[in-house]
Parts: sequence; C-alpha cells; structure tokens
Amino acid sequence: MRPINEILATMDYGPSPESTREAQAWLDRHQRRFGLFIDNVWSEPAALFASRNPADNEPVAEITQASADDVDRAVAAARAAQPGWAALGAHSRARLLYALARLIQKHARLFAVLETLDNGKPVRETRDIDIPLAARHFYYHAGWAQLLSQEFPDHRPVGVVGQIVPWNFPLLMLSWKIAPALACGNTVVFKPAEFTSLSALLFAELCQQAGLPAGVVNIVTGDGAVGEAIVTHPGIDKLAFTGSTEVGRLIRRATAGSGKKLSLELGGKSPFIVFEDADLDAAVEGLVDSIWFNQGQVCCAGSRLLVQESVEHRFLAKLRARMDRLIVGSPLDKSTDIGALVDPVQKQRISDLVQTARDEGCTVWQPACELPERGCFYPPTLITGASTSSTVAQTEIFGPVLVAMSFRTPVEAVQLANNTVYGLASCVWTESISLALDIAPQIKAGVVWINTANQFDAACGFGGYRESGFGREGGREGLLEYLVACAEDARPPAPSVVAVVPGVPDGVPVPGIDRTAKLYIGGKQARPDSGYSQPVYGVDGQLLGEVAAGSRKDIRNAVEAAHKQSGWAGASGHNRAQVLYFVAENLAARHAEFAARIAAMTGDANAAREVDVSIERLFTYAAWADKFDGAVHQPPMHGITAALNEPVGVIGMICPAESPLLGLISLAAPALALGNRVIAVPSSAHPLSATDFYQVLDTSDLPGGALNIVTGDADELARVMAGHADIDAVWRHDGSVAGCAEVEQLSADTLKRTWVSGGKGRDWFDDRQSAGRTFLAHASQVKNIWIPYGV
Ligand code: NAI
Repeated sequence: MRPINEILATMDYGPSPESTREAQAWLDRHQRRFGLFIDNVWSEPAALFASRNPADNEPVAEITQASADDVDRAVAAARAAQPGWAALGAHSRARLLYALARLIQKHARLFAVLETLDNGKPVRETRDIDIPLAARHFYYHAGWAQLLSQEFPDHRPVGVVGQIVPWNFPLLMLSWKIAPALACGNTVVFKPAEFTSLSALLFAELCQQAGLPAGVVNIVTGDGAVGEAIVTHPGIDKLAFTGSTEVGRLIRRATAGSGKKLSLELGGKSPFIVFEDADLDAAVEGLVDSIWFNQGQVCCAGSRLLVQESVEHRFLAKLRARMDRLIVGSPLDKSTDIGALVDPVQKQRISDLVQTARDEGCTVWQPACELPERGCFYPPTLITGASTSSTVAQTEIFGPVLVAMSFRTPVEAVQLANNTVYGLASCVWTESISLALDIAPQIKAGVVWINTANQFDAACGFGGYRESGFGREGGREGLLEYLVACAEDARPPAPSVVAVVPGVPDGVPVPGIDRTAKLYIGGKQARPDSGYSQPVYGVDGQLLGEVAAGSRKDIRNAVEAAHKQSGWAGASGHNRAQVLYFVAENLAARHAEFAARIAAMTGDANAAREVDVSIERLFTYAAWADKFDGAVHQPPMHGITAALNEPVGVIGMICPAESPLLGLISLAAPALALGNRVIAVPSSAHPLSATDFYQVLDTSDLPGGALNIVTGDADELARVMAGHADIDAVWRHDGSVAGCAEVEQLSADTLKRTWVSGGKGRDWFDDRQSAGRTFLAHASQVKNIWIPYGV
C-alpha cells in the first residue's frame, strides 16, 4: 500500500466557495454605510471611511469615524443606563445574555461570512472557531449573571466600561469584553478596530432584537483617535484593551493617576517547545494551528519554535513537507488554510521584518505556493539560523512567519522560552506528562498548552505575564475585572501622617548609644549605599533612633537578593504557612516591646491592639498559604485545564504611613503567603517598628531575601521600583496621590502590575477592608495549563 503522504499528494481539492449572498443582502439593506450605535439609536453615517475586503482590496462598506462629541454621548448614555441595568437583577440580565447567545448562534453563518469579508480570515475558522466561541462566551456569562449575587455577594459593578479591541478576532474579542461586563451589571462603550467594524455593528442590531435596554451597549467606530477619546474620558470607570503593546503602554500612561481600573491584553512571542519524545507528526499539526491559524495574526501564536536538537532535522523536514501542502487563497473557500492579511500595512510590516531576518544572516524558507494576484496574501514562512538576539526572535511579527531554534536540555528550553519580554502563551510537546508538568510552571506565560495549541474556552482565563499585559479574560478570575468589592467603598480618605520634627537644629548630637537601624536585605542587616541616615522622633519630640536612608543602589541589591530567593516561590504552602505562624509567634513573644515602640512613635494609646491585629493577620495569611488553591476546569475538550494561582514574582511595596506595623504586615503577609518575594519600604513617618521587626524575622526561619526592608524616602524609592525591569509589581498604599500616579506612569515602560491607594486610606484594623481575597488576588496571577488526554 502507498504511504498516506503519497496518496494525499496526488489528491487535490476543487474550489468550494462559501456563498456571500446573505452578507451582501445585509450590507445592501444598510446601503453599505453605517452610523454609530448610541443609546439604542443609529446615528446618521458621517465622516465616513472605507472598510475593505483584504482578499481583493475592494471596499465592503463605509464606516463612521466617531468624534469626541460622539464618545461623550456614548459615555453619557452608558452612565444613565448603568444603575437601571445593575438594578434589573441577576436573572433578567442572565435572560438577556442568553438571548444574545442564541441570536449569535442563529446568525452564525452571516457572522462568519461577514467576518471573513471584513478581515480576510478563512471562513473555515470564522465558522468553526470565532463564532461558536463568541456564542459560548455569552452562554457562559449568562450563567455568571445568574449566579453573581450568590458567588460574589459583597461586590458591585465597576460602572461604565470602555472597551477597545483589535482586528484579528473582531466578534470574538467583542464577546470576551462585552459578555463579562454586562453579566456583572456594567454598561459599555465599545470600539472595534477600524479595519473590522462590521460584526460589531451586526451585533448592535442583535442587542436591539434581544431587547437590551437603551445605553447598555454603545458602539462607536473609528481609529485610534476614538480609542484615545474613550481612554481619556473622565466618565469611564474601567478600561479593557486588547491590542499592541505599544498602544497598551500609551493607555497605561494616559490613565495613570485617574483611578480607572485597567486590564491590558497585549502582544506575545510565544514559544512552541518540541521535546525529542514528542509525537512529531502531531506536533507539526499543532504548529500549523499555532502559527498559521488566522495567518499568524494571533497574539498567542506559537511564533518561536524551540525543538530539541536530536530531532531538529527530522522535525523541520516534516514541517517543510506540511508547509508545502498549505493552501493559501480565497478566505471564502472552505479548503483554504491561509487567507488574507488584514491590510496592506500589515503585509508591508511582515515583509520588512522578513527582509530584516535576511539582512541579519538568517535563512528564510517559503514553499513554492501560488498566491492570488490581488489582495494581501503572504506565504507561510520558516526562518532558521536566528540567534536569540535576532530581530525576528524578539519582535512580534504578527504574520505567518515562524522562527525556529534548537535546544539540548529541558533547562535550556526553559531559558530560551523565557528569553522574551512577553509572556502570553506557550506550547509544550512531549509524551512524558512528568516532563510537561515540570516545564509548564517554569514558563513565564499565562497559558500553557500541553500537546495542543490555541485552545480557548470561556471558562478558562486568558491573559499575560510581563509585557503581554495584566488582567484575565474568561473564567472566574475574568469577572473580578468587572467587579469592585463593596468594602472598597468604605475606605476613608488617606490620613495625613507626617514625621515628628522637634524644634531643634539639625546636627544636635545623639546622646547615649548610637541606635541607627540598617536596611534588611537578603536576610542580613546592610548599611545603606548613601551612608546617610535620618533621625526618627517620638510624639513628644525625643529622639528614638535613626534609620538608614536607602537609595537606588539599595533597591537594586534588594531586587538581586529577592531573585536569588526563588526557593520561596517553590516552597509548599504548608511550609510557607509554618514560617508565617512562626513569625507571628515570635512577634507575640515581643508584644510589649512592639506596643511600646508604636506608642512612642505615634502616641497611639491603642498600640497594643495594633500588635494584636498584626499577629492575627499573620495567622490569617498563614491560614491562606495552603488554601488559596487554583481550579480544574473541564472545557469542551477531552482533557482538563488546571488554573494555578502563581505568585506575581518580586513585589515592591510602599507601606502606609499610619499603622506602621500593621500596615507593613497587611501588605507583606499575603504576598509572602503565596510565594512572592517582597521589597517593603516601611512607614516614612514611623519606621522603627519595621526595623525592630528584623529581629523577629531573623528568628523565624524566613529565608533571606524573601522579605527585604528598605527605609528611606518613599517617593524616591517608589520611583526606582516602578522603573526597575526586574520588579514584577509595585504596590503603593501611603495615600500620596501624586506618588501613586507616578508609580502608574513609570510602570508603563515594563508594563508591570501596580496596585495603588490613590488618595484613599484603609482602616487597617478592619478585615473587610484590609485582608482577604482582594489582597490575595493582587498577590497572584492565574496560569492555565491545558492538558488533553487520550488523544
Ligand atoms: P493597535 O494596538 O494600534 O490597535 C488596536 C486597537 O487600539 C484598535 O481598535 C485601534 O483603533 C486602537 N487604538 C490605536 N491607538 C490607540 C490609542 N492611542 N488609544 C486608544 N486606542 C487606540 O494595533 P494595530 O496598529 O492595529 O496593529 C499593530 C501591531 O500591533 C500588529 O502588527 C501586532 O504586532 C500588534 N497587535 C497585537 C494584537 C494582539 O492581540 N496582541 C492585536 C492587534 C495588533
């Protein structure tokens, strides 16, 4: 019998075009000109721009470029509608979301064809993937709407949400954004990408048909200027953005200090790792789904192939043979594998990057496939011979271009996989479940697919690490983006706490024994690099001691120490709990001393209570350390998805000026409980209970570098931490409005996560405001590991 490859090679597919009749009729009904959908009313089409079919460059329709006034009207409509929408109740909202899911299904073929006409992606993908998944998101979130008050009893909607999406999955990204927002009782102002507005406009019609109240969903079309108007609008409470890392950074900067909630789903350069024991034929098919799905215009595309050296030649030979058979052509043809890129701009960008690869000495291979004469087509491309620093190994190409490299050992595979500023997704191919599950947690990415690729489901959260952004879409964790814990509303304004400065001139000698506290770095007391210290006075003006003036170099040393202590992240929850209990025990043993110190610094007659609650809080997080478990999802595939709560990494924190011991412990303990390493800047006004705490830490088995304490000027140290490339998150809770804004602003460069108090304080004694899941959520990030079996 002839081998299957030979048989396949002799077979050919005849054309199998999908009819566009229904889609054309829909476009004609609208005279191919579309206005905006605001407050359930269609505006007159105005300031029109053309939306083209990238497969033939012909205009499909004309779309309105919204003005700033239009955005204003949309926000006002959403604002007016929001209280009524929230008050409608869980079941009514669930019914409406369910109706939207049904309507998407009923119009599935129309959506699929329209999306293909507008975007250029193969109809096979829109029909089988984009549209069914969009419907699934509405079904899933109809369920959450129904369960919301039972599952999130002490939460409220955020309010009015601005949502901006790219062109690669127009309806799917709409559903990822709109379904959870509506389920939680928010109203939305949504902007599709300028290249692909049509499916959002059809969706607006479905909102009318479903009977959604006016103003709940508002759709404004246009380019980045419209996006900017949404981002900067003061009436928006939360922004959800998917798109390029570059625009994500702009949005982070533009919203710094505004108090708007923000989630960013940005670019990627995801590794596709093939170990020598993998089923190589299956891995080749996985790679096709990974990098040639949607022409490679996928944020989580497996664009970096890392293949074990021992099978490299065999695997690449199989891959080239498969690439030879990929069909590039009309996206409306049901046998097409690779359709058109979205726009000539993208095609040019990809061609330029491939040329850069040639210029940098890489080898570029493309199969001898025929491309249609017109339209934005680009052949599947394999680049070999790249080094880790090659442009194409680092830059998101966002096209059908794969860069292949090899590795020898699993350790090297992980190093190469993490050698990127991004962290969105990854694939691991091996027949050894033990190896796969050993590698998965080591990869810095929000999603790991084992022996599969590009799987999505509404129940499984999706989102990135590092410069791939923050926040999750889908799953229970995705809902938290659209909710606010009611306890947050009870927070008081930040108190004004200033260090006591007695009326004595500087330089008065300190009487008695010198009591200058050093810094605490890597488990040891360290002199500050500056060599300076500052006096700390008690309420009655007496000198209590001096603390070191930490600076940039000290933070750098602390970051180094924190990174060296990676064992803390790998320790078991039980082990971390034991250490936290031990810290509590040792603090309790010195209760009186700490109470006296706090009383001397702050004059607080209740200082003993602060120590009591600090001990209790340590117990709280010791309790959580082995209970903040992830989840196992059962998405519609033969397998499971394990959602792990991973630590964020190294967290820098500016502690509140008030409640000097309790504030420090309330922030550091949840972070430590989950395996983060911490660099804490204690109360600038009352730092001595933190420096006294060194001795408690020394006797409590906390490994050196897990908690580092750097005293000094909060503004200066926050600035250093926000700009530091190896700090993963910065928390600032000292109530400094300008300082918090600056942290958000400076964090944009590395897109690190931030959590800031703004001008609000907290009642640190109140568990509802200052302990629990909100803190744990900030201290963790969810990684979803997809594990199919029996395939
Ligand atoms: P983009 O990030 O500029 O566009 C995404 C969305 O943001 C669009 O709706 C756009 O109108 C809007 N936008 C643009 N500028 C804005 C601003 N200043 N404020 C608010 N909204 C703004 O992406 P673009 O230009 O379409 O593609 C460029 C590159 O970005 C691609 O080649 C690819 O590398 C990357 N990209 C990544 C995506 C992802 O899913 N990770 C999606 C789209 C693009």
